[in-house]
Amino acid sequence: MPPALFISFEGIDGAGKSTHIDALAAAFRSVGRTVTLTREPGGTPLAERIRALALHQPMDALTEALLMFAARRDHIAQVIAPALARGEVLICDRFTDATFAYQGGGRGFDWDALLQLERLVQAPQAPQGQNLLQPDLTLWFDLPPAVAATRLSGARVPDKFEAQPAAFFEAVRAGYARRQAAEPARFARIDADQPRDAVWAAVHTAVQGRGWL
Ligand code: TMP
Repeated sequence: MPPALFISFEGIDGAGKSTHIDALAAAFRSVGRTVTLTREPGGTPLAERIRALALHQPMDALTEALLMFAARRDHIAQVIAPALARGEVLICDRFTDATFAYQGGGRGFDWDALLQLERLVQAPQAPQGQNLLQPDLTLWFDLPPAVAATRLSGARVPDKFEAQPAAFFEAVRAGYARRQAAEPARFARIDADQPRDAVWAAVHTAVQGRGWL
């Protein structure tokens, strides 16, 4: 049986992940894999309720970080861990790197506190902090915030994060870069400031290069 795979998609708002998430799921299904597609914050009834709060209510950065990790805890227990135990391909639209990028980078919340929460939530069986549950591959859609803002404009009523100024997204982008620098093997940086076909080619190459397609 092929191994379970956990793949996350990351990037600032307007990076254009969605169509590629669907395309990657279709590519895995076409080779006979069972795919679970999910998202954060969200993916369970409880976590979707937390999402509605976190994306629309004003709150301080600690509250926001705790809500993101609370939603993640439920999502891991109800969806992610069971799907991986069944040997599936689990594709998640955002995971913990988003908390480091948005709450850590964007909001400026304490990075070390986030590392502690990450250990608590993603390493239930590893008190020393080893064997964190992390994606096998994180596809980071990277592009200048000004380009992303143009893509977002007029698309829909912006949520709390989408309404942030360019400087916020520069800080979010720097947060992603910091996470990639800490774990380069897990990340594939995708240049998302390209035509859709070229972005898809980069996504496909990153996955195929690991022997998964
Ligand atoms: P999206 O699902 O439309 O991308 O929206 C999720 C928003 O929530 C997006 O702006 C990023 C933000 N977010 C955080 O701030 N922290 C997190 O941990 C996650 C998963 C998302």
